[in-house]
This record gives sequence, structure tokens and C-alpha cells, in this order.
Amino acid sequence: MIRFNQTTKTFYLRGKDYAYVMCVGKAEYLLHLYYGTAIRESDAEYLAEKVGSLQDAACADGGRDLHANELWSEYPSYGRGDYHEPCVLIERKDGALMSRFRYVSHEIKKGAPDVKGMPHVRKADETLTIVLKDDFSSTQIYLHYIVGETSEVLVRYTEIKNVGKESFYIKKALSFALDLPDQAFDLFRLEGNPTAERAPEITPLGHGVTKLQSLRGASSHQMNPFAALLRKKVTETAGECYGVQLIYSGSWQITAEVGNAGTVRLQGGINETAFCWKLGAGEMFTTPQVTLCYSAVGLGGLSRGFADFLRECVIDPKYAKQIRPVLVNNWEATYFDFNYEKLFPIIDEAAKLGIDTFVLDDGWLGKRNWDDSSLGDWFVNTEKLPQGLIPIIAHCKEKGLKFGLWFEPEMISENSELYRLHPDWAIGKQGQTPCRGRNQLVLDFSRREVVDYVFGVMSKILSENEISYVKWDMNRSMSDFFSSALAAEQQGELTHRYILGVYELAERLKSAFPHIFFEGCAGGGGRFDAGMLYYFPQIWTSDNTDAYDRARIQWGTSYCYPVSAMSCHVSACPNHQTGRSVSLQTRGAVASLGATGYELDLSKLSAGEEEEVKAQIAAYKKIEPLVLSGDLYRLSSPFEQTYFCEMLVSKDKTQAYVVGEQLRADPNGYYKESYLRLTGLAEEKLYFIEELNITASGAILANFGLLLPHLPDYGSFVWHIGEVK
Ligand code: GLA
Repeated sequence: MIRFNQTTKTFYLRGKDYAYVMCVGKAEYLLHLYYGTAIRESDAEYLAEKVGSLQDAACADGGRDLHANELWSEYPSYGRGDYHEPCVLIERKDGALMSRFRYVSHEIKKGAPDVKGMPHVRKADETLTIVLKDDFSSTQIYLHYIVGETSEVLVRYTEIKNVGKESFYIKKALSFALDLPDQAFDLFRLEGNPTAERAPEITPLGHGVTKLQSLRGASSHQMNPFAALLRKKVTETAGECYGVQLIYSGSWQITAEVGNAGTVRLQGGINETAFCWKLGAGEMFTTPQVTLCYSAVGLGGLSRGFADFLRECVIDPKYAKQIRPVLVNNWEATYFDFNYEKLFPIIDEAAKLGIDTFVLDDGWLGKRNWDDSSLGDWFVNTEKLPQGLIPIIAHCKEKGLKFGLWFEPEMISENSELYRLHPDWAIGKQGQTPCRGRNQLVLDFSRREVVDYVFGVMSKILSENEISYVKWDMNRSMSDFFSSALAAEQQGELTHRYILGVYELAERLKSAFPHIFFEGCAGGGGRFDAGMLYYFPQIWTSDNTDAYDRARIQWGTSYCYPVSAMSCHVSACPNHQTGRSVSLQTRGAVASLGATGYELDLSKLSAGEEEEVKAQIAAYKKIEPLVLSGDLYRLSSPFEQTYFCEMLVSKDKTQAYVVGEQLRADPNGYYKESYLRLTGLAEEKLYFIEELNITASGAILANFGLLLPHLPDYGSFVWHIGEVK
């Protein structure tokens, strides 16, 4: 619900369980008043009167702009007395940078805007657009607030328009700002590395600016484009949290700033470092969308709010809740060293086990036998596969499997036909030795002809072969930020234009090949973000497939992404990344908490393992609806406990599925019984736990719990829980 009170000039936005209030002050500044638990519309008037008027007093016109530092601004600018970080910096022809934005008008429309060329919320009930105009320049700003009445998430983004006759430069254009009236928060983020993605870290919020960011041209392994302000001592089930997530995959920033007035300003969007966008007369610049999620019931509520929103409003509805193919991928089975003779037995075995799709990973193209050549040459490596892909696809078909193929569309190897033809298509300065990553360079996707070329070569392969799945990889960070095609004054546009090119290619391929299921990947989980999820319903969570480490990676990822977005594979032991050996049972259990698959040489399974995998896949297919549409409850943290436990619960609370992994055997546990509380079930219902042959009420399960089994290191269990009618 979005309401505007003409008398108090107050905007009241109400979604599921939250309200957001702002007003137009006397000096026509757009002021923030409230964000939190769903207060009533009439409470907004109180806020306007008491809080709005205080702010007004601070900024009454007539030379008192210096008090702007005390305002809670909806879209703060620079140079007129607000000394916190601004959202926007406009450089005019004479070099002046200050602006003063004031309210002009607003509009409330049904639905969500259709943003062209960028990932965005697909549906909502209403959108509020507030227009602000700069007193000093020809800049007009459109602030958008998108509300779904049944969603915990408020979506925001900003458009900047040049309404004058001369171009100017946008040196900073964040998507949103949120000023909260006190600073008693901790800052939560998901930091990481390749093979250790999205680990939760919580630190007290001190004075000054804390900046979370990526400068890598991708959202990155190192920091996820997400943050949350948490009230002190927040738990999974209690306490206030304010989460923010960017629907963006390029270089980004989120800052939290505690000012001396005791407020905290949270803001974020495109990374401002080296960013500069030339905006011509009449042109509009659109920022990425951000999602704000408020939870009064702890981190669990925050995660479920984000997960529901992504499944309902961002991920392609055609796939969001649809049964996914169970895959086998040949990467860890063969790496680059394969031929028909090595691949066929994997396919044969996959067919016996109930696997749906065989995916041919890296090494099938150009002359690629190692990671030092051929990216860009998207035609078959006929030294390795003399008759091309046809015999593999035919073999899959004969065995009842579908076929998937790996691509790394955004990359180029110096040792490639493409590079020999178009060295300037690589990002970087010609004649200056480039920074190499995994022996490769990044293609300049800010150039239309480059995107067109890649679309052409990929389309050829995809239309000439029966391909039902594509794994879209991206294996290095961007560097040498220079495009041979951009004018000097537009070099600051490169990273954003690049990601727009990536989005365009994804969009074009998806609409040209609507039957193909696209999975995202970036050297593991290096581009696991809501922007990518708009195009790819699932993303390879990490190259680390060790079930011990995966418990942590999947746990961390679940703070703001649904489990259905996480691609999770069972791989061989000893694990290729860690050398650790974990039972097949545990590997299967942990991989069942996501879009499951296999990543090992199936032809080497023993008879016993073969039976076990067959049973795992059959069992997975039964609980898959919970993975796709259920609610996740994190029960025991792998970062804090010796046990990792998560539970998926159907929306109607009639079914649940628990996975537990004993990370470290705990001999002390034999003297100290530990009960696992199953929060998330309906207390009034009666449940049967299949594996334990126990019937208990939801109230007992939630408030007393079930005894955790004592298992050896990396031992695991699964519990299937159903309502007893
Ligand atoms: C990345 C991916 C892997 C695999 C390799 C192929 O590391 O994350 O899954 O596809 O590239 O080179």
C-alpha cells in the first residue's frame, strides 16, 4: 500500500510486516521519517508532525542549509551542509559539484516498472516515483519505491535525468540511502574467498564510514553485495534486522556511516571509485535496483523475506519453482583430459542412477587442453572430439539423458583465433602488458560488436545442437580498466557498461533459446548475486565441494538467497579442494540442501556406492519441492557449533526435511545430551519423524527438540517429517 497525505505531505508505504514513511519538509526537502515494524497510517501523521517538524526547523530556508547535516535525507547530495557521504555527485561544465534537490512532484502507479537492460523486480503491487530537481543544475532525479503487499521487501532505485542542454558528468550515483535515527547496530556482511564464499561476519558499528565493496567488475567472492544492520544480540529467531541486497553484478558498494548526530546512514549501488558517466542533454541514467528487507524476528525472518522475494519476483517464473535437472558434470571427473571413450561411461552410469542431464564442462572448444588457450573460439575442439558434440549428444539421448554445455562467454585467451583477429576486444591498454588472471583476459563487453559476436558464435552452437542446459562461467576479476572503444571522458563508464553488456547477452540468449536452462558460475561463487539470479535460476555456489566446508558456504549463502538458487554437487573423495574424506551419505545430504548434482567419475563407483547414489537421487526428487518452495530454518550453525543443521519446511507446514552434519565428533556430548529445537513447524500440529519413528507435537519439537545423534567427524543424518492427520 502506498499513500500520500496531502495535508501533512507524508508518504506512507506498507508491505508485509513493515512500514516506510517520509515527508516533504517545509523547504521541499524529501525527508526520511521511519522504517521498521508496520505502524499504522495514522502514526505517519504523528511522525510528520514531531520528527518532520524538527528536521524542518533545522533546515528552514534562508541560509540555514548548513544544518542539513541533521536531516534524514532520502537521497543526500553534496556540498550544501550534509557532511555524510552523498548518494549523488554531479559535475557541471564549470566543475561545480554541489547540488540541492527539492521535491517537485510524485506519482503512484500500479505494478512494477519494466526496466530495460537491467535485472529488476518482475512484479509488485504499486510503485511510487518522487521527482526531485536540483536548484543549481539541470539535474532531475526520480526516486522509485516498489511495494508488494505480501512481501517483506521494499525495492528502490533512482534515475537521473539531464533536463538541460549541455552534458554533465555523474561521478557518483547510488541507488538509495536510508537514514536511521540511532546507531545501536552491528554490521553484518558476507565476506569470503574462492572456495570459502559468503562467510558471515558481524562487527560493531563504530563512528565513521564502513565500506563493503567490490572493485573487481563482478560482485565477487570476497564480499557479497549484501549487508544488514542488526540490533545488538540478534538471533535466528529474535531481534530487528535491516537487510540490503543489490540486484547488481558489477563493481558495487554498500556503506554504513555513523555520523556525529548519532544517526546511521546506509546506502549503496554502483561503486563510485573510477566511475564517471557522461550524461548528454535529455539522457537518463538508471541505477541498479536494491532490495531492503526488514525483519523484527531475527536473521531467520530476514533470510526468508529475501528468499521469498527472489523466488517470487526476481528469478524467472518459468524456472523459479520448477523441478530442476539433476546433473552430472565431468569437470572433476576428467578436467581437460577427456575424449568420447572417457565420457561415455559416465553417461552410461548416470543413466542407471536416475540423473537427468550430462554437462560437458571446460575443454571442449578451440584447442583448449589447458587453461591457457582458446577462450573466445567457441567451436568444437576436434582434436579431442573429432566428430564434434554430436556423438555425445546422441549417446546421451540414447540413454535418456539431456545434454548441457559449459561456456565462458566474457573471456578471451591471448592464444586464440579471436585474439589474433581482435586484440583490442580485450579490456586493457594496447601496448601495456595486461594483468592476467588464470591466463586469460576479459572481453570488452561495453562494445556492442563484441556482445554481437559472442551472441553469434554461441547461438550457432546452441542452435546446431540439442542443448538443454548452459553453464555460464566467468573466471577472473577485471583489471586494466580501459576500453579501446570509449572516448577518454567516458572511460569511467567501462565497468558498468560491461555488466550491461553481460545482461544484454544473457537476455538475448534466453529469449532466443527459451528451452535452455542457464546456470551461473564464476570460478565457483564469484558472482552469486540477485542480478545474476534474474537470468540464471541457480548459480554454482563454490568450487569447494567438500561437504564439511560446504555446510559453511551454504549456510552463509542462505542469509539472503534461497536454497534453490544454490547449485550443490556431490564430488569424489578425497575431496579435490581440501583432501578431506567425507562419507558419500554426508556428501549427498549436504548437496540435497540445494539444486543437487554430481561432479565425479561415476563409472568408478563401487556397486555399493552405485546403489547409494541411486537411492540419494530418488530421495532427493521426493524432497525437491521443499528445496524449491519451502522455508529455510537454520538450526545449528557450523560457525558456532560442532553440528550443522538446517530444516526446510513447506509453506503449509505439513512437511519438513532436516539435514544434520556432525562437523567434529564431540566426546563430551556423550555426557551432555544435546537437543535440537525444530523452530519453524506449526506448534499445534502433530508430526511423525520417519527415521526416528517418533510422533511429537510441533510445540514439543520447537520448544524441547529432538536428541541429536552422536556421530563421528562428518557423520550426518536426514529426517523426513510429515504431519500426522
Ligand atoms: C571454474 C568453475 C568450475 C569449472 C572450471 C572450468 O573454476 O567454477 O566449475 O567449470 O571453471 O575451467
